[in-house]
Amino acid sequence: MIKTLYWKDNSAYILNQLLLPGRVTYLRCRTVKDVYRAIRDMAVRGAPAIGVAAAFGMAIAAIEKDFKSLAAMKAWLSRAAQFLGSSRPTAVNLSWALKRMSAVADAQFSGVDALRRALIAESKKIYDEDIIINRAIGDNGARLLKKDSVVITHCNAGALATAGYGTALGVIRSAFKQGKIKYVLVDETRPYLQGARLTAWELMKERIPYKLITDNMAGYLMKTCNVNAVIVGADRIAANGDTANKIGTYSLSILAKHHGIPLYVAAPTSTIDIHTPDGDGIVIEERSAKEVLCVNKIFIAPKTSEVRHPAFDVTPAGLIRAIITEKGVFAPSGITKPAERE
Ligand code: MRU
Repeated sequence: MIKTLYWKDNSAYILNQLLLPGRVTYLRCRTVKDVYRAIRDMAVRGAPAIGVAAAFGMAIAAIEKDFKSLAAMKAWLSRAAQFLGSSRPTAVNLSWALKRMSAVADAQFSGVDALRRALIAESKKIYDEDIIINRAIGDNGARLLKKDSVVITHCNAGALATAGYGTALGVIRSAFKQGKIKYVLVDETRPYLQGARLTAWELMKERIPYKLITDNMAGYLMKTCNVNAVIVGADRIAANGDTANKIGTYSLSILAKHHGIPLYVAAPTSTIDIHTPDGDGIVIEERSAKEVLCVNKIFIAPKTSEVRHPAFDVTPAGLIRAIITEKGVFAPSGITKPAERE
């Protein structure tokens, strides 16, 4: 499986997803600023992958400067965490990973080198754990599908959105191995085309049958094909189960409800935000107009058009059949249970 990101020679190597599927190239990040830019500009994207990148960013923060004292290092790490945390607002995995790294930074150490080693070790642990968690999500979710299912997925919640294996695509991978996937309908996912550029690419590489569709085809296909499930990832799950995910998920959930098709959210428990009571409290990132006006840097609309570009929307808990986590499958109303068990 292609690596989304990895740690080598005191640097984070990040697959530049802006160039996929045409080119496979890695950005070498040696400074906190490099990591911040990679997240902000979406070279790395997908909630769990953003979290892992930020963890690597903190390890880099510990390396990139010569510190005169442990106190000076800790002060810098705290600023680095704040800076990385401001790169994208919606995916809660970002602040979750930064909190984990900051807890290490705040602990007692004999000196600068000991803290450096601890931060590098913690970032690698977050990376390794993510892959294990995704495999568990895959196995838990595959149980919900029957043989020869047709499923719709939106955006990319695959290996490319995580340290590996994926969440929604993890479920599809595990189910495919069990003969439960007939084919996957892949929403292209305007405007960033994560479905067309990334999900289709991943499925093609794994030889999992798929059909690429434009976002506005989902309703027609739900009506005319036997679609068995919609499976999507999540960027933040509020305490009541309301779920923020890629823009268009809300529309899909309404279509699914109308057609009696279950919609499943697959996400690690690190995506559950028990401090946000419901979806109204989730900050929705607004990205630049240019990303809507252009495809591959070519304007497809009058340059002066006013544009809206919310990058995410919130699907109400009532439209979600179940949330698949590494700790089991939960009704949206009971989603705080696994997070509270931490
Ligand atoms: O803007 P993106 O590409 O970071 O949005 C990604 C999504 O919305 C994913 O569905 C979500 O992060 C889950 S990834 C396992």
